[in-house]
Amino acid sequence: MREPCRIVKDTLAFVGEKIHAGMTTKELDVLIERFIRSEGARPSCLGYGGFPASACISINDVVVHGIPDERIIREGDIVSVDVVADKNGYHGDACRTFCIGDVKPEVKKLVQVTEECFFKAIEGLRAGRPLFDIGYRVQKHAESFGYGVIRSYTGHGIGKEMHEDPSVPNYGKLGTGVRLKAGTALCIEPMIALGDWHVRILNDGWTAVTVDRKPAAHYENTVIVREDGVEILTL
Ligand code: MF3
Ligand code: CO
Repeated sequence: MREPCRIVKDTLAFVGEKIHAGMTTKELDVLIERFIRSEGARPSCLGYGGFPASACISINDVVVHGIPDERIIREGDIVSVDVVADKNGYHGDACRTFCIGDVKPEVKKLVQVTEECFFKAIEGLRAGRPLFDIGYRVQKHAESFGYGVIRSYTGHGIGKEMHEDPSVPNYGKLGTGVRLKAGTALCIEPMIALGDWHVRILNDGWTAVTVDRKPAAHYENTVIVREDGVEILTL
């Protein structure tokens, strides 16, 4: 899994260099697909459940599963780019939210805290710890800023399939859930809203937006649970 995860990490670094105001999300998706294939990997999202593109690109109030299209990325937008790659039968999955030019301070803060939520989540995480401690830590950090924790999408196990058990919610009660075993591969992915956490799906069947249309951020890494901590494969 280190190889697909390394490719996802490099793809997101490449996105960081290429993303700019004035380009369409489809143009960015084409660059992402080329990059992944140039590494001898396959973009896992393409065709998954009928998803029509290589990456999920979600702007502002789009929480997840934005479909790349003719929409233009604009100055002041936040853009979540979620990339999954498949190499040698294993998947790697990560997401970053990029700030385009001058983003409002309150929105920049949301992006920063969403990333912090991931690092809070893995604090003290190791084999033997209960699964829902992850969500407890994400929720505690996010809600201390008054943010909404998205409920209807979660992290997940990963390996030969992009989505495996267990589901990894970003909310929960400390000390509950299955005890994690060494060697478990998880995608830990806080999705945090500036306002209300409720989302609805647009008519395309994919695009999830916040009901209040306020922005949301997303940050994700693939990790392996070890006896003494977690190994982050996409950093
Ligand atoms: N990282 C996203 C997830 O875990 C990837 C979804 S790909 C899609 O949900 F095809 F379902 F969009
Ligand atoms: Co994921």
